[in-house]
Amino acid sequence: MNLPNLNDARIRTKEKSIIKRDDYFVPLSVKNIGFNKKYYILTYGCQMNVHDSENISAIMEDLKYCKTLDMDKADVIILNTCAIRENAHNKVMGMLGRVKHLRESNPNIITVFCGCMAQEEGISRELKDKYKWVDIVMGTHNIHKLPIYLSNINEDRKQDIEVFSIEGDIIEGIPVKRDSKYKAWVNIMYGCDKFCTYCIVPYTRGKQRSRLPEDIINEVNNLIKDGYNEVTLLGQNVNAYGKDLDINYGMANLLEDVAKTGIDRIRFVTSHPWDFTTDMIKIIAKYDNIMPYIHLPIQSGSSRILKLMNRRYTKEEYVSLFNKIREYMPNCSISTDIIVGFPGETEEDFQDTLDIVNMLKFDLAYTFIYSPREGTPASKMKDDISLDTKKKRLDKLNKLVNKYALMNNKKYIDKVVKVLIEGESLKKNKFMGYTDTMKLVNVSCDKKYLGQIVDVKITDVKTWSMDGVICDD
Ligand code: 5AD
Ligand code: SF4
Repeated sequence: MNLPNLNDARIRTKEKSIIKRDDYFVPLSVKNIGFNKKYYILTYGCQMNVHDSENISAIMEDLKYCKTLDMDKADVIILNTCAIRENAHNKVMGMLGRVKHLRESNPNIITVFCGCMAQEEGISRELKDKYKWVDIVMGTHNIHKLPIYLSNINEDRKQDIEVFSIEGDIIEGIPVKRDSKYKAWVNIMYGCDKFCTYCIVPYTRGKQRSRLPEDIINEVNNLIKDGYNEVTLLGQNVNAYGKDLDINYGMANLLEDVAKTGIDRIRFVTSHPWDFTTDMIKIIAKYDNIMPYIHLPIQSGSSRILKLMNRRYTKEEYVSLFNKIREYMPNCSISTDIIVGFPGETEEDFQDTLDIVNMLKFDLAYTFIYSPREGTPASKMKDDISLDTKKKRLDKLNKLVNKYALMNNKKYIDKVVKVLIEGESLKKNKFMGYTDTMKLVNVSCDKKYLGQIVDVKITDVKTWSMDGVICDD
């Protein structure tokens, strides 16, 4: 048993990350353990977790399990959890109740709890004390050891908790079963060293560790061979890519090398304004296959609050970066994240946030009420804003954000845009995909266009999506 520890999770040394290439293996005893059995995986949270679940799925299928989308039919139930805000946490705890029910009616069911919540000291202790029936608790650093944990399960069904609070290594060679045949997530780095005061990620995912450029390029080349059209380069803070490698090679170099592979579309998330260089902007502008869309979290429009958040930029610096991006790429769409109700946020601070939204008119903004996370510096700050005030601020902000989202979308009416048709739309008889600027489009078209980048004429727009018709038809 190995429980996580917040103090250890905080440590950052100058040690270089170790790349491990042979750490994933399947013990003989579990080689066919999943034969005729099903696994169910539920994923909460960000793209990083979604991609981790693609790894976990591939591991399960390596053990011969088949995926089921019906939890009631599963022999193994896996919850891949998120710790970013209290509401994600509450959803998972609610789901555990349902899983418990199934486990009681069929004691043979194996349950796995993993992801960022497992990395939280309090949660793992709670699972140990109150949820003894959860068979395996593993953290974000040791997904690749799942076959070993499954091989350790025996008659007495003793709970196995192994969560490491470490800076972390880079594990290459974990298999992946991608959800899409056209778009792929590609990790370029793990962890984060920014320590924004509200954020739990540097504690749950360890220090910043960049994968080697050649490993990333190889993965992209293999994806091209497999017919993929789009890659999204993934990291908590992609602009800092390479800083820990000491090879004088950064995100601008990586973007250029990925662009040169010739893959149709390249995206990247998430950017931190601090590390966004002019070189990077120039590379994005230079290559047609790097999509003109940047997710650039601002978090607050008040420089005072940004300082308390340890974001390392002022409102003016953010605006100047935003304008520079638009100067090189006038049509680049820019989305953001905004937190309201950070401890001590006054009406004036909140007004600064509204002002900046009015000034920059983001294409899209993901907005959140501040949620204290145990162990983070902000959780110790005096939080004297009532929930009612926070909700009112969120509501006011959302109205503004939605107004600009719709306004930006209206510019697309009657325009022809390129859309990668990637799946069936929620709307009947339609397919969906995204423009290069990351606008969701529901397209009336034939199934044959799946996996193709096609010209679509926009016929109608809403706040969150657009409708279009294919130009060929
Ligand atoms: N409370 C509210 N929102 C948060 N985020 C991160 N931590 C918190 C928190 N404690 C938001 C930030 C980040 C996004 C992924 O989630 O806006 O950019
Ligand atoms: Fe969290 Fe800040 Fe790191 Fe983003 S950059 S993951 S908000 S600490």
